[in-house]
Amino acid sequence: MTLGEIKEKALAAIAKAQNLKDLEAVKNEFLGRQDGELTTILRSLKDMPPEEKRETGTAANALRGEIESAMKSRLGVLGAGSSSSRLDITRPGEKVRVGHLHPLTLMENRIKEIFLGLNFSIVEGPEVESEHYNFDALNIPPNHPARDMWDTFWLPAQYKDKDSRQLLRTHTSPMQIRYMETHQPPFQIIVPGRVFRFEATDASHEVNFHQVEGLMVGPDVNLANFKYVISEFFNQLLNQKTDIRLRPSYFPFVEPGLEVDIKWKGKWLEVMGAGMVHPNVFDAVKYNPQQVKGFAFGMGLERLAMIKYKIDDIRLFYSGDLRFVDQF
Ligand code: PHE
Repeated sequence: MTLGEIKEKALAAIAKAQNLKDLEAVKNEFLGRQDGELTTILRSLKDMPPEEKRETGTAANALRGEIESAMKSRLGVLGAGSSSSRLDITRPGEKVRVGHLHPLTLMENRIKEIFLGLNFSIVEGPEVESEHYNFDALNIPPNHPARDMWDTFWLPAQYKDKDSRQLLRTHTSPMQIRYMETHQPPFQIIVPGRVFRFEATDASHEVNFHQVEGLMVGPDVNLANFKYVISEFFNQLLNQKTDIRLRPSYFPFVEPGLEVDIKWKGKWLEVMGAGMVHPNVFDAVKYNPQQVKGFAFGMGLERLAMIKYKIDDIRLFYSGDLRFVDQF
């Protein structure tokens, strides 16, 4: 190849180069140490007569400079020039996927916020519980028919604690007992937490779900206080004045026992169990039932989230399906 041909081909190849690899190939072809086209000419200089040597030498060296600077500027255009400019600021940005809170966490946070505003404290208890706290101390002795209300996951016998069998708590109510054993009234608490039921799953039942327990105890706490607290709670949770209805019901650890309904989109929906703390429960924690009164309630977190966010299947919460959770 003549110098003229080298110049033409090399500059064309540089202009066409799309990346570092292409440029590397151009460099090899023309400036390669072994048998690059221009290198070969430069190497043959020593055998030329002085006149031609000077002429060709000057031209060849100038061409080498030209090719090198063309490669350098092409490298700059490709965004891979000197190491300080490897970052191509002209590339379109990549969207960063930002995480977000799960709908149940949103619901729990909101509930905590409302109750904190009503001067309640937030406490938590263990998920693995003893039969004593989950049942006996809550006025549900062994063989009491009410135990059928909670289908229980029992732990194997070797996990017995003192005399009490161990289980996965079927509700957050055992924390009523734990809290009263270690605190004196007056107080008001809520207990958010995971609970377990040994049940078949369907659109409205899961083996694990969440409850928020409430307990307020003092010298003269009464049902009217409960009604106020719970109306205020629903007004804030649902962002509108919400009608509530109290119906007689039965739970061994309250007397009277109630079911709370709210009116939502023209229909009454059952949302929590509640009642006045049973004297036997106060006895179990060595409070004097003549001197203190209290109300307790328990609600399902999933159920409230389903109502508020119009979700029709409880299993969606645990499906891990991003099409579901990304909506919140
Ligand atoms: N623990 C009850 C349940 O799981 C709910 C409840 C709590 C009822 C407190 C009354 C008082 O169904």
